[in-house]
Amino acid sequence: MNKYILGIESSCDDTSASVLRGNVILSNIIANQSVHEAYGGVVPELASRAHQQNIIPVIDHAIRKANVSKNDIHAIAFTRGPGLLGSLLVGTSFAKSFALSQNIPLIEVDHLEAHILAHFIDDANNSKAPDFPFLCLTVSGGHTQIVKVSSYTDMQIIGQTIDDAAGEAFDKIAKIMGLPYPGGPVIDKLAKEGNPDAFQFPMPDISDLNYSFSGLKTSVLYFLRDQLKKDKDFIEKNKADLASAVQQTIIKILMKKLKLAAKQTGINEIAIAGGVSANSGLRQAITDAAEELNWNTYIPKFQYTTDNAAMIAMAGYFKYRDKKFASQKIAPYSRSGSRKR
Ligand code: KG4
Ligand code: ZN
Repeated sequence: MNKYILGIESSCDDTSASVLRGNVILSNIIANQSVHEAYGGVVPELASRAHQQNIIPVIDHAIRKANVSKNDIHAIAFTRGPGLLGSLLVGTSFAKSFALSQNIPLIEVDHLEAHILAHFIDDANNSKAPDFPFLCLTVSGGHTQIVKVSSYTDMQIIGQTIDDAAGEAFDKIAKIMGLPYPGGPVIDKLAKEGNPDAFQFPMPDISDLNYSFSGLKTSVLYFLRDQLKKDKDFIEKNKADLASAVQQTIIKILMKKLKLAAKQTGINEIAIAGGVSANSGLRQAITDAAEELNWNTYIPKFQYTTDNAAMIAMAGYFKYRDKKFASQKIAPYSRSGSRKR
């Protein structure tokens, strides 16, 4: 099906637009918002204002880069949630107006499902996509889930965090260490120079396939508070070792439950998705587990790990095929639980 789908992502602090022809990627433009750096985290009001400034130039760029005109677009897909409401509203409003003015279908996309479906984007030198059913460890700044994916539209969460998300743990611990936001990539880089066994942090004791990261954050906070009393330069002197030990602990926590999920379900098709799947240590741990446990593993390309509109257009394409269109009355949702069908 040679249909052109325009995707829009505006759930947090990246404004992104992408054009796909079927599942083939033609463009994927992302405007990051540097305005939040000074605050050590995303400021919702500033995010929606920046989305308003960015959205038209970003979409214009995506359409031009794809070498199509706006009249060639067959459908527009947008992130409906979860995310920051003010940010989601910018993308949702634009998508509605575009669908109305061009007289094309409007398609709502769940951000987390889109992270998973990013595995099906065809970008020339593509590796193989996972076979159904597969397990996907979705790890981002706001979510940590193990999802059993039975089809493009049938996804079941079989485990999730009961408090902080894995990305949040990276970011909050980085903040405690005085590192810039977002902390995940900074810790990843520092960890490469450090010794992961230099410090030991406790593993949570959580039932089933669920996760918890708030205990790790607290134990790092108390550990550093005590060490700083003895040596005010403790963090500076041990930055790389601390980053390495923290990263190793987060990865151990993630892998323990993922291995359990694979064992319990008997599924050995294993994918990772979301911003934290960019982490080099996690990517290595997945590769090692593939060897050890005979898994077929699927690691997304870097450009499809963090927030992007290509994954939204990809999810939109599957809904387009099923003629699952949204009405003009649709409203965004901030949390998965508040989603109205
Ligand atoms: O998926 P994403 O772009 O946005 C959400 O939907 O939340 O994920 C952002 C998260 C942030 O917490 C960021 O620190 C983390 O992904 N992240 C990383 C890395 N790159 C991004 N965490 C660890 N290592 C990385 N290389
Ligand atoms: Zn995301």
